[in-house]
Amino acid sequence: LNNGVARTPPMGWNSWNTFGCNINETLIRQMADAIVNSGMRDLGYKYVVVDDCWMNSTRDAQGNLQASPSRFPSGMKALGDYLHSRGLLFGIYQAPLDRTCAQYFGAYPGATGAQGHEVQDARQFAAWGVDYLKYDWCSPSGTIDEQVARFAVMRDALAATGRPILYSINPNSIHAKTGPLRNWGDVANIWRTTEDITNAWNTGQTNGYPMGIQNIVDVNVPLAHYAGPGAFNDPDMMEVGRGGMTDTEMRSHFALWAIMAAPLVAGNDIRSMDAATQTILKAQNLIAINQDPLGLQAAQVSNDGTRRVLAKRLGNGDVAVALFNQGSTSTTVTTTAAAIGKSGTSFTLRDAWTNATSTTSGSISASVPAHGTVVYRVSGGGTTPPPTTAFRLRSESSGR
Ligand code: GLA
Repeated sequence: LNNGVARTPPMGWNSWNTFGCNINETLIRQMADAIVNSGMRDLGYKYVVVDDCWMNSTRDAQGNLQASPSRFPSGMKALGDYLHSRGLLFGIYQAPLDRTCAQYFGAYPGATGAQGHEVQDARQFAAWGVDYLKYDWCSPSGTIDEQVARFAVMRDALAATGRPILYSINPNSIHAKTGPLRNWGDVANIWRTTEDITNAWNTGQTNGYPMGIQNIVDVNVPLAHYAGPGAFNDPDMMEVGRGGMTDTEMRSHFALWAIMAAPLVAGNDIRSMDAATQTILKAQNLIAINQDPLGLQAAQVSNDGTRRVLAKRLGNGDVAVALFNQGSTSTTVTTTAAAIGKSGTSFTLRDAWTNATSTTSGSISASVPAHGTVVYRVSGGGTTPPPTTAFRLRSESSGR
C-alpha cells in the first residue's frame, strides 16, 4: 500500500502471544520501558501494539469506541502519549465486523466492531495518536471479495485522517488460507498469510489453528513475489522467547522471518527475557537483512524436503542466503553462488550469526543442525537475477 509507511517490514512488540486478554496500561508501559532499556527500540523495534481486549464492550452514546475503564483507566490517548514520549509508536487492534476475535461486541449498532463506524473509528485512532492498526477478520464466513471490500473501507478511512497509519490486516482469523490466495498489497501494508502461530516447531497443520514455525514457512515462502516496499506478507508475530522450542529452533524462526521480509514483531515478555532470547531478537546482521531497502522477500532456490535454500537480494548487491535443515538430524546444506543470482569467481561469506567470514569460488554450504538455519551474507562478484519470477525485482514483476 502506497501510504508512505512500512517501506521496510515493521518491527515491534504485540501483547497477544504472551498476554492474550490479560492486558492493562501498566503492563504496556512496563513493556515499552523494557523495549527501550533492552536496546530493542534503538535496533528498530518501534511499534508497541495493544492487541484485542483493550476496548469496552459497548460504544458510547455518540457511537465512539471506548477503552476498557478497568484495563485502561487513563484512556488510549494517554497511552499513546506515553509511547511517543519513549520514542515508540502506538499500535491498536480492531475488527471490521460486529465483534473482535475475543468476542468484544454488543448488539449492532452498539457493536464494537467497526462496520458502519469506520470513518469515526479511524478519526478516533488518529486523535489518540495511533500509528498502526491491526484489523482482524473474525468470522468463519465472508468471501475474498467481501473481505477486500470491507478492508478497503478502513484503508480509505485511515487515509482520510491524514495521519500516516500502518495498516495491518488479517484475512485469516477463523478463515485460514484466505491470505495466501491473494496479493493484498493494494489493500494493506502487511497481511497475515496463515492461521495463528503457536510456540511449537511443527503442529502438522498448514490450514488450521495452531500453526508451528515449519508449517508457516511452508505457506509463506511461495508468496515471496507479493512482497515489496509498503507491502509485506505477515507470517504472524514471533514466538521467540516463549518456550516450546529449542534455541536452535528459535534462531531458525528468527532467521527465517528476517529473510522472508516478515514483520519482526516480538511476542514475548520483554521484561523478563533470558540472554538467549535477547541475543536472537537483537541479532543485528539479521535485522539488517530484514530491513534492507529493496524490501524483497527471499525466494526459494531449492527444497528437497529436508534441505531448503532461500535467497534474498539486497540493495548493495549482496545476497543473503538461508541454508535451512528441515530434517531431524544434522546435515550439510549446499547451494552455489550462481544459484542465488551471483556471477563471478570469488565471493565472501559472512555468517550472520557468528560474523565469521570465509571465501569461496562458488560453492556455498554449511553443516546445519536439525531444524537449524545458517545465514550467510554473500558479497563480491556481480548480481544476475536468474530467470525465475520470485527472483525478479519488484519493478519487473506484475507490480502495483
Ligand atoms: C486472532 C488473531 C490474533 C489475535 C486474536 C485476538 O486470532 O489472529 O493474532 O489478534 O485474534 O483475539
